Amino acid sequence: MDQQSRQIMKKKVEALTDLPTLPIVVLKLNEMLRNPSTSAQDIGELLQQDLVISARTLKLVNSAYYGFPRKIASITRAIVILGFQKVRDLALTVSVMDIFNGRSDALFSPEAFWQHALTAAIATETIAGRLRSPEQKDAFMGGLLHDMGRFLLARNFSHDYAKAVRHMQENGCPLVEAERAALGFDHGLVGEWLTEKWKFPSKLVRAIRYHHSPDVAKEDTGYVYLVHAGDVIARAVDVGVEGANPISPFSRKVWKHFNINRVKLDSIIRDVLGGLRTAQDFFDLIPKR
Ligand SMILES: [Fe+2]
Ligand SMILES: [Fe+2]
Repeated sequence: MDQQSRQIMKKKVEALTDLPTLPIVVLKLNEMLRNPSTSAQDIGELLQQDLVISARTLKLVNSAYYGFPRKIASITRAIVILGFQKVRDLALTVSVMDIFNGRSDALFSPEAFWQHALTAAIATETIAGRLRSPEQKDAFMGGLLHDMGRFLLARNFSHDYAKAVRHMQENGCPLVEAERAALGFDHGLVGEWLTEKWKFPSKLVRAIRYHHSPDVAKEDTGYVYLVHAGDVIARAVDVGVEGANPISPFSRKVWKHFNINRVKLDSIIRDVLGGLRTAQDFFDLIPKR
């Protein structure tokens, strides 16, 4: 696909009118967080307007993954303990998983998609903690949303997605390479178009765009590399979930940047598996169809 066809595809993504929108509560939450005078109580009151989102958010706050010794009974209390951003991120997690669902078909399974996305979120956050990355507070969302372009491609452009999957099966290459060969672009680019449309922070948009090609990223590289590592490690640990698709390799540049070696990698993987064992409440959010 040449530059012109890529532009046409971008226009098609931008023109999608049946694109799910984020719930009003989450949009308002984002707005409130930008306002420095917002209090924990303001946010608590806002989230109470959507009882499903607030109840599910509280369930995550109380999951074994965070390991608080006592039950946190209200959103206001959760904000005091975990901070605004974490509570916002958990509410966003609950919302995107709720809106991006649907039945599985031969080509794409939303259930497997979220299984991988959550594994990547936990892997990215775990790696950030282990490497003492300054990006730690944004790690979870980067991992969770990195493949959103794939969801959009599979569901809104299923004809193109089918072409890429066929190419992958015939050539035994990773999906991302098949997309580039069959379509001229990959789901990283589609994810960039989507999250730009959603006005997500530019750092997050970049990580989504370059998670399979971190070597060519020029800005926010620390964050892009982290999300790349989280994705690769998630693919390595969630055996069987995404089928027998070949895994795209760890970038040597990222490997070197984080000073990873086999021993360190094994111990990071052990930590990720440990994190996953405490995160059942997150996986319970996945709609099973
Ligand atoms: Fe991907
Ligand atoms: Fe991925």
